[in-house]
Amino acid sequence: MKAIRIHRFGGSEVLELDDVPVPQPRENELLIRVHAASVNPVDYKIRRGTVPWVTREMLPITLGRDLSGTVESAGAGVDAFRQGEAIYGMLGSIDRGSYAEYVVVKLNEASPKPARLSHIEAAAVPLAALTAWQGLFDHGHLDAGKTVLMHGGSGGVGHFAIQFAKVKDATVLTTASGQNLDFVRELGADKAIDYQSQRFEEIARDVDLVLDLVAGETQERSWSVLKPGGILVSALGEPPPEKARQRGARAVGFRAHPNSGQLAEIGRLIEQGKVRPVVMGTYPLAEARQAHERLERGHVRGKIVIVVAE
Ligand SMILES: NC(=O)c1ccc[n+]([C@@H]2O[C@H](COP(=O)([O-])OP(=O)(O)OC[C@H]3O[C@@H](n4cnc5c(N)ncnc54)[C@H](OP(=O)(O)O)[C@@H]3O)[C@@H](O)[C@H]2O)c1
Repeated sequence: MKAIRIHRFGGSEVLELDDVPVPQPRENELLIRVHAASVNPVDYKIRRGTVPWVTREMLPITLGRDLSGTVESAGAGVDAFRQGEAIYGMLGSIDRGSYAEYVVVKLNEASPKPARLSHIEAAAVPLAALTAWQGLFDHGHLDAGKTVLMHGGSGGVGHFAIQFAKVKDATVLTTASGQNLDFVRELGADKAIDYQSQRFEEIARDVDLVLDLVAGETQERSWSVLKPGGILVSALGEPPPEKARQRGARAVGFRAHPNSGQLAEIGRLIEQGKVRPVVMGTYPLAEARQAHERLERGHVRGKIVIVVAE
């Protein structure tokens, strides 16, 4: 089968279209014929060699963390899925990648694909939506009536986070670049703040939760908008605990993990028309380099998807 692998770290030129053996599913695993895989920042960070848990000794590896496809075959112990069934999922380990014609997924990584979505749309969901869900609810404990400030509302994770927070009846403030303000408002944001021309800390006050998808100086300036007892949840490493203490707030860094139950719940919201993935552009598998370059240029609305099979 064809797969996009890296044999060394570097720019988009290190993405190679290789011929590799089709993997075999073991107990409680499914072999999936991949129809589409989305591109996440972690993919280009792995490719660049800046993700600490992916080292040179592990190469070559196939890139790609999430997918939509159909069940080709199943290992022992699988009775929840039938051959030909459409599923979507997020891979939990780096020994497998979805920029490939086939991939093995574990049962706790997959859920039935929402019927109203194409494979291209469904592939845009798993990693980004699970990150938004786990950040807002597992770590941020967001509830009805609370206020959240999200940094990066127009990107892959942020565009789901806005919609999930609105489903919970929270108030949503989000930062975005000027060209994406209308987009985040359409998704439901109550206030859209242009991070290029406005200072969010002069607009946001007493928020219960900051969902940080940007880090750096943006995170640094975010402490002042939290109410006492509020929480800053970052998808980009552990925020400094002394900053949280000074503010009388809490801080948590997290890494998203596969969760088939949450993916099923997200699927139900999609089926009910309450949440939708936005796909800004697609590229065929052989053009994975261009897909990476597009995401790395920034200002993407929603997701970029790699189409593996029509
Ligand atoms: N911990 C985890 O498990 C986990 C999981 C998923 C993602 N992440 C990380 O979270 C980050 C976001 O992921 P993603 O998939 O949403 O990426 P993405 O699709 O590339 O979106 C990035 C977003 O950041 C916005 N942005 C850039 N600079 C900003 C600034 N100074 N202030 C406010 N917003 C700014 C961009 O907005 P404009 O386009 O409007 O400029 C864009 O919406 C990435 O660094 C990714 O690696 C971590």
